[in-house]
Amino acid sequence: MKIIDQSLLNILATWQKELEQSTSDQELEALRIAYLGRSGRVNELMGRLKKLPLEEKRTFGPQVQQLQEIITQGLHTAQQKLREESQEKELSKKKNFDVTASNPSIFDKATGSLHPYTHLIERIEDIFTSMGFAYAQGPEVETEWYNFEALNIPADHPARDMQDTFWLTTPGLLLRTHTSSVQVHTMKTQQPPLAVFTPGRVFRHEATDATHDFMFMQCEGLLIDKNISLTHLCSLLKVFMRTLFEKNDLSIRLRPSYFPFVEPGLEVDISCIFCKNGCALCKKTQWIEMGGSGLVHPETLKACGIDPTLYSGCAWGIGIERLAMLLYGINDIRLFHSGKIEFLKQF
Ligand code: PHE
Repeated sequence: MKIIDQSLLNILATWQKELEQSTSDQELEALRIAYLGRSGRVNELMGRLKKLPLEEKRTFGPQVQQLQEIITQGLHTAQQKLREESQEKELSKKKNFDVTASNPSIFDKATGSLHPYTHLIERIEDIFTSMGFAYAQGPEVETEWYNFEALNIPADHPARDMQDTFWLTTPGLLLRTHTSSVQVHTMKTQQPPLAVFTPGRVFRHEATDATHDFMFMQCEGLLIDKNISLTHLCSLLKVFMRTLFEKNDLSIRLRPSYFPFVEPGLEVDISCIFCKNGCALCKKTQWIEMGGSGLVHPETLKACGIDPTLYSGCAWGIGIERLAMLLYGINDIRLFHSGKIEFLKQF
């Protein structure tokens, strides 16, 4: 049925114009209400139709119906087109997404930085590699043998109490208590001459306070060759500490101590880097404790398959946190893995 009634043709013309101008879901919905809603144009026409004499109803009725169909269909097509367009837009956004694009305003506010561990380990790594030492690594979950026995600490040895241990539920497995276990891995798999450094995380079953934590980082240096003596250890320690603290007049002091895997065992102190006459940081002693050292025990060499009559070695270990606390003036060791953003932001 063709629409010939002028008033209907007028409505149709306005509708078409309005439809063309509607470019959003909301506008289309408003148009639907205006034409097809309860008090919309089409219902108005239906009311008019009811009042017409029968003869006119016959010609006007189908034309109103036709108009209603055109409007319904038009709305439907327009809505679908809109949906397709927005899907296409989304798709092209994804397709043209530039992973290299940067938004400076975001980066200004949220710049990441390196953890103090990373700063220090990189620094330590530089010193060791400049002296010809290679990086060595071992597992954090260790067997009793690598952590204790090979290091001359048998099960009934009182020295086991020096390092309170986190034991795993699997018998014989533990979280390594020191990075000396990496020395064992290295000596067992490589033949001398050997020169390695071993930065890594270690674990101790200890009560925590500002200077003790259950998890911390250590780094050891190990040198094995023919005729290695205390002289080598002393000069290596001197070069290492002087470079680390960027202080050419730094002195080293070695005190007799005991670690089962070295003989002799020596505690390493450095002259205080903050004062000449005693301060709070060196507890008025002018010396700061830096860690343990010594000549590798013949029993340890033997356990790792190295002949102690041919080779000897020296080793020293330092705590990374203690170093960072000194260098950066940090007063609580627990801050390192607290994840506190205020702390991390400073580095
Ligand atoms: N492994 C010892 C500790 O954790 C430190 C050390 C390393 C001592 C190397 C001597 C030689 O206490």
